[in-house]
Amino acid sequence: MKKDLRRAVIAGNWKMNKTPSEAKALIEEMKPLVADAKCDVVLCVPFIDIPAAVEAAKGSNIKIGAENIHFKASGAYTGEVSADMLKEAGVEYVVIGHSERRQYFGETDQTVNLRTLAALNAGFKAIVCVGETLEQRELGYTETLLKYQTKMALTNVTAEQLKNVIIAYEPVWAIGTGVTATADQADEGNGFVRAAIAESYGADVAETVTVQYGGSMNAKNADELLSKVNVDGGLIGGASLKAEDFAIIVKAASK
Ligand code: PGA
Repeated sequence: MKKDLRRAVIAGNWKMNKTPSEAKALIEEMKPLVADAKCDVVLCVPFIDIPAAVEAAKGSNIKIGAENIHFKASGAYTGEVSADMLKEAGVEYVVIGHSERRQYFGETDQTVNLRTLAALNAGFKAIVCVGETLEQRELGYTETLLKYQTKMALTNVTAEQLKNVIIAYEPVWAIGTGVTATADQADEGNGFVRAAIAESYGADVAETVTVQYGGSMNAKNADELLSKVNVDGGLIGGASLKAEDFAIIVKAASK
C-alpha cells in the first residue's frame, strides 16, 4: 500500500443548499482558511451556483465541481445539463452516481457509467460514488456490491482516463445520519474499491487511484478516517457548509 502515490482530495458536496449569493459568501469565507492546503480542495455546488462559485474561487486553490452531468451532448432532455455547458461555466470536477441520485432520481449503474464516460470524454475529473445500504451490509454483500458498482461505473473507461477518476466510497447508512463508518470500516470499503480497480486495471494502477470516504465525515473524525492507508480524501456533505469545519478537514488531509 503506497498512500504517497495518491493525491489527497477533499471535496465538498453542497447538495441542494446555498443560493448563488450564499455560495459566494461561503467561498469568500473559506478561501483564506484553506489557502495553504497540501491536498486538492474542491467544492461541488448546485448548477445554478456554478457561475458565482467559479467567480468567487478565482485565483484561489479551490476548484469548482458540479453535482451531476448528463451523458448526451445536447437535445430534448428537459432539466438536464451537458458537458459543454459545464465546461464553459468553468467546472473542473463532476460528482456522479451519488446515492441520493440513485435513491431518489432513478440513477442506475448503467447511467452512472454513461455519465462517467461523458465526464471523462469532456476532460473533467469524475468523482464517482459507490456504497452499500445498511440492509446490503447486514446481508454480507458489501464487498460484492462495492466491486460490482465500481466495475460497472468504470466499464469502457481506459487506463489513461482512469487518471481523472476519483471513487468515493459512501456507505448509504452513513450519509447525513451522523453515523460515521468506523475508520476500519472506511478503510475496508475503500480497500474493496481498490481491489476491484486492481482486478480490472492491475495492482500498480489501482495504487495510484484516489479513493475517498464519504458519510458524516466531520471536523472531529476526519483525522482518524484520513489516517487510514486506503482513505485518500473525503467527500463531505454537511460539514462542507461550514467554512471552519471544512477547513479543519482540509488540514487533516494535508498532513
Ligand atoms: P454527509 O454527506 O457528509 O452529510 O454525510 C456526504 C455525502 O453525501 O457526500
